[in-house]
Amino acid sequence: MKEKLSQIMDSALEQIEKSGGLDKLNDIRVAFLGKKGELTSVLKAMKDVAPEDRPKVGQMVNEARAKIEAKLEEKKTAFEKALREEKMKAEVIDVTLPGRKMEMGHRHPNTITLEEVEKIFIGMGYEVVEGPEVEYDYYNFEALNIPANHPAKDEQDTFYINDKILLRTQTSSVQVHEMEKGKLPIRMISPGRVFRSDDVDATHSPSFHQIEGLVIDKNVTFADLKGTLEQFAKQLFGEETRVKFRPHHFPFTEPSAEMDVTCFKCGGKGCRFCKGEGWIEILGCGMVHPHVFEMSGIDPEEYKGFAFGVGLERIALLKYEIDDMRLLYENDKRFLDQF
Ligand code: DAH
Repeated sequence: MKEKLSQIMDSALEQIEKSGGLDKLNDIRVAFLGKKGELTSVLKAMKDVAPEDRPKVGQMVNEARAKIEAKLEEKKTAFEKALREEKMKAEVIDVTLPGRKMEMGHRHPNTITLEEVEKIFIGMGYEVVEGPEVEYDYYNFEALNIPANHPAKDEQDTFYINDKILLRTQTSSVQVHEMEKGKLPIRMISPGRVFRSDDVDATHSPSFHQIEGLVIDKNVTFADLKGTLEQFAKQLFGEETRVKFRPHHFPFTEPSAEMDVTCFKCGGKGCRFCKGEGWIEILGCGMVHPHVFEMSGIDPEEYKGFAFGVGLERIALLKYEIDDMRLLYENDKRFLDQF
């Protein structure tokens, strides 16, 4: 028995000494000290030992166990230490290296411009609302007094999804959604993306942004339209800005106009920036057409309103003196970092 025990112990200690890693150590622990391990089987064989010898054999088994455990522990500590050292070596940090600069992004010039426009109108008590980009023909054209076969429909090259559904060509569609809600008065602006089947060049893109405006109340007049849009222009381009309204035609407003602002480069004298004109066109506007009211269930005798539509990119290009609209979409950091 004694011999067997010391054999087991020697074999265990030798295997531990030679073992190549933590996994192996665990295998050895199981093989010798586990439930079915060699040392355990010795304990199980105790019943064959003469009763008077049992305490002695028991003590020997315990000693062998303690030795093997101590050796296992010693080896484990050594392995762990070696592992730690290896890891430390692999993770050396060169504290003399210069740090990596964190680059902060910032808002896109379109967004900066939009937020400025929103601030101006919110300051005048307007609500900011949104409408769908995928739209029914009815909201984009029909309900805005542009029936099928109307020539105005041809002016806007449209992306059709099917006969009745399209990508909106103008944010004016949101006017109809707001009127249909049936809550009056209305004082809203609605910024958003619009789509036209145009080729890309310095002033065109198949997708750009507009900001629609709509005010409906009793006793709203063209004077309100003029006063509001003049105030808007002055806040956006500077107090010295003057505005001019030219008669125009939009199917959903009557009368309709386009508004020009004095060139903020030359103050109206005429320069290269305004192509010698002194004036720059910035938006379309007009009094809501009675037929548009009727189609959305509003009595044109009781209510009046004005509407306007501004091209967001157009304003951003003017404000920041950018001469090519494509720059706004290319996401070139060298360009964007300037704002
Ligand atoms: N939707 C027009 C366009 O895309 C712009 C416009 C003109 C909007 C006059 C209006 C308006 O609300 O009254 O050309």
